[in-house]
Amino acid sequence: MSSSIAPPSGPGVPSSGVPPSCMPVALNLKVTGGEGQDEQEVALTGTLRPFVAEEMATVRASLEQAAWSTRGTLCVNLKRLKYMNNVAFLELNRFVRWVSTSRPELKIKFILSSVIPWAIRKFQVIAELYPSVTIEVYDKAFYPIQEVIEDDEFINVLRTQEKIIWEHEQDKLAWHGLRPGLRIADVCCGLGDFAILLQRDFRPEYIVGVDHSKPFLRYARQHVADYGLENIEYQYGDAAALLLPDNSFDFVTCRLGLQVFNEPQGILRELLRICRPGGRIYVTNELMSGIIGWPQKELFRWTYEKVIEMGHVLGMDMDTGLKTRSMLINAGLEDIKVHLIDINNMNSDSVGLAKVVESWNYVTRQMCQRSEQPPEVFERIREGLRAHVEAIQTEGGFASWPIYAGSGRKPFRS
Ligand SMILES: C[S@@+](CC[C@H](N)C(=O)[O-])C[C@H]1O[C@@H](n2cnc3c(N)ncnc32)[C@H](O)[C@@H]1O
Repeated sequence: MSSSIAPPSGPGVPSSGVPPSCMPVALNLKVTGGEGQDEQEVALTGTLRPFVAEEMATVRASLEQAAWSTRGTLCVNLKRLKYMNNVAFLELNRFVRWVSTSRPELKIKFILSSVIPWAIRKFQVIAELYPSVTIEVYDKAFYPIQEVIEDDEFINVLRTQEKIIWEHEQDKLAWHGLRPGLRIADVCCGLGDFAILLQRDFRPEYIVGVDHSKPFLRYARQHVADYGLENIEYQYGDAAALLLPDNSFDFVTCRLGLQVFNEPQGILRELLRICRPGGRIYVTNELMSGIIGWPQKELFRWTYEKVIEMGHVLGMDMDTGLKTRSMLINAGLEDIKVHLIDINNMNSDSVGLAKVVESWNYVTRQMCQRSEQPPEVFERIREGLRAHVEAIQTEGGFASWPIYAGSGRKPFRS
């Protein structure tokens, strides 16, 4: 189809004639790709909860205009929508019907996210009815280990880890720029414990934790309700496409989060986007190859090299620690600070530390299964973890677990 096809009512003119001022509040609409392209994208961000279909006039007009000027596939990107109601869904359905008669050769791809789960089911029905429609669920296929680190069983791992890490982390947070009265976002907040500890010790003005695990968020919200805490919220969302506004936080954290993504730069970009100029971004990353111990030194080395290798197969980098400084520099931050949190059985509660290592049995078993390791590999990893626990508990034994904490300032210039 040539690029000269004109829309019936002219570019930018809403088909229903309703002025743009009737657009639902808090909606951003962006069209990319340009006229006559094989592919164009219309991205909707924010809240799409019209009372009546007419409030969708501007959206409809942009979609129709893009449909007329796209040759191959029109992507309707809804992955950053925070809310959508059925009025909006029905209007999008009507748009699909309009395309099937006005531009029958055009393909439509809806990009959705599990932030609005009911919409996935409904768009699947549309895709079954119209062969030209496909849907892509943005956050379904992040990486194969995603389900593991987001399910209830992982709660135990995070709880035991957090207790130990906080003891070593809290003293340095002021050096990284944390002080009372800030607006904080904790991205990949897990169980939300960190946010609660910050609330207790640093008295922020407001703190929001974002995570992609529903069981973790349930846990976090329950905790906040149990303790009657105020100024803390938890939001379900995707760190790669946060539903938080630009330049809106003084301090943005992502702890042990970058390492679970195969494209951590994309997450850093989002952290930067929501941080205000002059605010700081704080991240922590493990260095698995730095986990060393005595007496079974070789078994330690083999075990954690194997875990790193399986992590790579599954799209994670559990050896990110040493790259912390360069990641922050490459993201465009300034005034970079990095320090090593060395957690070992000499400076930590050994019972708690042994529990942390024992909890890793669950994760490593899952990693072995998902990366299709033979049973003997899993057996040897279990031996390695046992050796780690023994090193912690035996007199004369030593075991160290390094985590790198780094922060940088978002420049005032863009
Ligand atoms: C290793 S845990 C770290 C959790 C927490 N920051 C801590 O230090 O205990 C990684 C976290 O990233 C979350 N996560 C994974 N993919 C995510 C995504 N796409 N968006 C937001 N959170 C995600 C997981 O649910 C998990 O809570």
